[in-house]
Amino acid sequence: MKLLAGNWKMNNSLEEGADLMEAIVEGLSAQVVGDVRVVVAPPFLQLPQIVHGLWENAHIAVAAQNGHAAEGGAYTGEVSMAMLRDAEVDAVILGHSERRQFFGETDQDVADKVKAALKHQLIPIVCVGEVLAQRQAGTYLEDVWAQLHTALNGLSGDSLSDCVIAYEPIWAIGTGEVATPAQAQEMHAYLRAQLKATFGADDMSIVYGGSCKPSNAEEIFAQPDVDGGLIGGASLVADDFIALVKLLNQA
Ligand code: PGA
Repeated sequence: MKLLAGNWKMNNSLEEGADLMEAIVEGLSAQVVGDVRVVVAPPFLQLPQIVHGLWENAHIAVAAQNGHAAEGGAYTGEVSMAMLRDAEVDAVILGHSERRQFFGETDQDVADKVKAALKHQLIPIVCVGEVLAQRQAGTYLEDVWAQLHTALNGLSGDSLSDCVIAYEPIWAIGTGEVATPAQAQEMHAYLRAQLKATFGADDMSIVYGGSCKPSNAEEIFAQPDVDGGLIGGASLVADDFIALVKLLNQA
């Protein structure tokens, strides 16, 4: 399945978020979308207005950028998967490198969140990726697989087909530095083979993230094991996001 997700991160007021969404919806005719699954991930506070503003539009799914693994209780400042589902959110980004880097999330935390998300019928978009030192040391394939293996541990091939994997090399996120199409393809093919060998999962979407924009996406999307993108900066510019959907549809 082709998938393009926009991670809005901690940006925009309610009004700005609504304006961005309106511009995106306007630009995404059924023809542009084609067989691409389009997802937007606004900040928590914007979720209800984005979900309900889209009531009539079947083309776009809505994701949260995080969720807590516990059912509920004394976790000040957190939002549970049950709450996200109750708000009619479709998916949740888990283990983003910024969550790992700034909030200390571990692979085991991500694993707990993936299970909780699946329990509440949310599609987990599971992020993995290596730092520059791991790439330079040549251990990046094994290192990223170790992250993903832990995050998905204990799941069956069946529940895995409900998950999306986002490969995001950390050295490429928000840096303007983008993986080459060959680097993306190498990792995606490796992860796909490992997922099949370990979990028997062979129909998972694996998307690329990291400074992906209309000027560099075409070649990346053309790679056989790249099923789409997780887009940060360029997802805040409606025209760029729409252009990326178009490119992916044509890929
Ligand atoms: P970027 O972010 O496109 O701004 O590099 C990608 C992401 O963090 O998901």
